[in-house]
Amino acid sequence: MGIGRLADGLAATPPLGWNSWNAFGRKIDERTVLEAADALVATGMRDAGYRYLVIDDGWEAPERSAEGDLVADPATFPRGIRALADDVHARGLAFGIYTDAGTRTCQGLPASLGYEFRDARRFAEWGVDYVKVDWCHTDGLGPRALYAKWALAVHAAGRPMVLSICEWGRHRPWEWAPVLGHLWRTCWDIQASWESVMTIVARQSPLWPYAGPGHWNDPDMLEVGNGMSAEEDRTHVTLWAILAAPLMAGNDVRSMSASTRELLVAPEMLAIDQDPLGEQGRPLRDGVWARSLADGSRAVALVNAADAAAETGFTMDELGARRATVRDAWAREDVASRVTSYSTTLAPHASALLRVRAA
Ligand code: GLA
Repeated sequence: MGIGRLADGLAATPPLGWNSWNAFGRKIDERTVLEAADALVATGMRDAGYRYLVIDDGWEAPERSAEGDLVADPATFPRGIRALADDVHARGLAFGIYTDAGTRTCQGLPASLGYEFRDARRFAEWGVDYVKVDWCHTDGLGPRALYAKWALAVHAAGRPMVLSICEWGRHRPWEWAPVLGHLWRTCWDIQASWESVMTIVARQSPLWPYAGPGHWNDPDMLEVGNGMSAEEDRTHVTLWAILAAPLMAGNDVRSMSASTRELLVAPEMLAIDQDPLGEQGRPLRDGVWARSLADGSRAVALVNAADAAAETGFTMDELGARRATVRDAWAREDVASRVTSYSTTLAPHASALLRVRAA
């Protein structure tokens, strides 16, 4: 603790929610967003903790208003953002929005350079609870200074808002972002492919010292339910949970399968991701990750990155214990009792997420 932004308690555990980008891109409108909000409630995702509904790029009208304000595209968000945020709040959710620190958003829409205080104030007036600030069209600008301006602007706006820094890990944000925002992207945009997930994960291993309550590394939003195999989807979530990553679902929650939903709301997975100690997992060795949990147990993730089944495991000695009980967080059952080591066979691209309690 200590280095987190303002220690304002807004992101004591990694933010959980849903973001429009991975499923819809810029094709978003008020009806789709409200249907997503209803689905977050109906599927139990809200009650499992997925609080933030975030609209990403694409909500903005092509130009600012005559007064200089960002405005919602009147064709797709005819009632404006304030009314939408009210409706989202009425469903027991928090509301998030997107802008960009540069001259234009990544989709070429109006962005916030020079308007930081004005935009943050408007967002606060609209009832925004979470602001994602992207990094397109920022030639010659320094991210440290510009995101510091954003942190001041959010503070000055006087409404508690999570600040999500989206600088893609280009300027080592883990070194400066923890005192400015609540989470910062560490990588380029994720895609719904095994290669993308594994490339991102490889970048996370040295970053564990920088995360903790109030300030999180963000390996990008989830691609669960967007086309990977069931095993790959599960491994994606296993890894995000061991990394104490923010979990922003990125699928069309209105039409997800029962198995996708079960992955997202799995209670013992979420308990690991959201563990109050806030320690980010680190690799013990290739394909074996571990993190300490608040109750003194350890979480362990085993991942088979190979294209053939493989046996994998660990010894309690590696975790600094002698004997331990091993519980499968996905199956929600104990799989070994008072053992000195644990091993299992994993299908290609499969994983295990375990909670290990010293006996
Ligand atoms: C960038 C971000 C993405 C998304 C798009 C929107 O690529 O990294 O997460 O916000 O912009 O245009």
